Amino acid sequence: MFITLEGPEGSGKTSHIPHLVEFLREKGHIVFPTREPGGTSISEQIRDILHDMKNAEMHPRTETLLYQAARAQIVEQVIQPRLADGEIVISDRYYDSTIAYQGYGHQQKLEDVRALVKYATGGLTPDLTILLDLDIEVGLKRKTQNEVEWNRMDAYTVEFHKRVRAGYLEMVKAEPQRWVVVNSDQAWESVQAELRRVIVEKLAS
Ligand code: TMP
Repeated sequence: MFITLEGPEGSGKTSHIPHLVEFLREKGHIVFPTREPGGTSISEQIRDILHDMKNAEMHPRTETLLYQAARAQIVEQVIQPRLADGEIVISDRYYDSTIAYQGYGHQQKLEDVRALVKYATGGLTPDLTILLDLDIEVGLKRKTQNEVEWNRMDAYTVEFHKRVRAGYLEMVKAEPQRWVVVNSDQAWESVQAELRRVIVEKLAS
């Protein structure tokens, strides 16, 4: 089972995943958490280039390709083998982030972006994708207040991040059988409980 968590900046995915993993392990599942970009030595090195504030001149096409390079490696080296062994893989972001940020955010041709994503993943699609949805201003404020790592992507304009969120919501509409939306603008415990419920429901189906 391949589960991915998506969302705009500050939506809280990263803080929820370890607790979901622990919950599922207690239920007896073999679970492997990972994140994008990253999760392998090569992909983490690419992450550093992508997020480094000194790379402000990076062109959107360069950015798009680097995310795909990092992704191709983690799919082959980590995700595919673990899924083949019957494990649950939970990824903090996956290819929907590319469609949202590089496609909708940078307003690149969606058709081109989708073709690149397909090439990078070899067509591997998640079984379940959860959108932790949150107002952009609230999310960016959360990131500043919590002094979370501020990276090159965060520094794009609020308009860019609004297009990202709108893009996610369009993707949910287009593929409702794969997506579940969870409102992240509520108490952390309520969000965690809803995430657990959605995952348990999917595992039972
Ligand atoms: P995060 O670890 O805070 O989620 O940072 C990842 C950043 O990278 C976030 O701003 C979203 C961005 N990103 C893309 O723009 N495209 C992608 O394909 C992925 C995986 C992430």
